[in-house]
Amino acid sequence: MTSGEPGWVVLGAGGHARSVVDVLERAGHTVVAVSGAAPAGEPWHVDVLADDRAAFELVAAQGLHAVVAIGANPARARLVRELVARGLSVPPVVAATATVSPRSLLGAGSVVLEHAHVGPASRLGDAVVVNTAAVVEHDCIVGAGTHVAPGAVLLGAATVGEGTLVGSGARVLPGVTVGAGATVGAGAVVTAHVADGETVVGVPAATRPTGGTA
Ligand SMILES: CC(C)(COP(=O)(O)OP(=O)(O)OC[C@H]1O[C@@H](n2cnc3c(N)ncnc32)[C@H](O)[C@@H]1OP(=O)(O)O)[C@@H](O)C(=O)NCCC(=O)NCCS
Repeated sequence: MTSGEPGWVVLGAGGHARSVVDVLERAGHTVVAVSGAAPAGEPWHVDVLADDRAAFELVAAQGLHAVVAIGANPARARLVRELVARGLSVPPVVAATATVSPRSLLGAGSVVLEHAHVGPASRLGDAVVVNTAAVVEHDCIVGAGTHVAPGAVLLGAATVGEGTLVGSGARVLPGVTVGAGATVGAGAVVTAHVADGETVVGVPAATRPTGGTA
């Protein structure tokens, strides 16, 4: 841990939390605890708090940093909003191997995982996830609570609304807008604007009638 830096509490104890804890520790930070129901499998090497309320209390009582590591976009965004509203510390998290332009902006509680990139003049809202090896090129706008999944690419000046999933390996072409609450299927190539709440898949991406999840 950097000298004098507070430790971190990670809200969430599932698969995404494992990745975020790894990112924090590889960057030299100390993770004090995770919170929530831990799935079966490899046991946690840090304390596991019963729930998010316990995490809020620990962060407030000890002046720790918090990060919300929950894959579901609405739940992650809601918890980050609540932490910010309570005046708790929710700084962005950037992996040691990620590259983030100093001329970009990351919102509170945003996470940029290993080998990901955020280019200059891009603006990311609160609670955004730029997952492993994903790329947000220059001049992009990414709305709060959106998830750019592993290996997905937003090319220059692409815009993605709030609470959207850009699936793994998808590409959003330069200047194209994807609406809020939309889902871009894994591997899709988005060549034209996507409406709010719309799900698109394929190359070139085309509409599917019903939405999906992670
Ligand atoms: C697009 C997506 C949301 C659809 O999920 P769903 O509604 O549960 O869809 P289903 O799995 O029931 O599949 C429905 C149909 O769409 C097809 N389909 C699903 N995902 C597809 C994709 N990414 N590209 C092309 N076709 C796809 C299926 O083959 C199936 O076709 P069929 O009706 O001809 O059999 C999902 O498949 C997806 O790509 N999610 C992104 C996952 C991801 O990257 N998560 C990040 C985790 S870190």
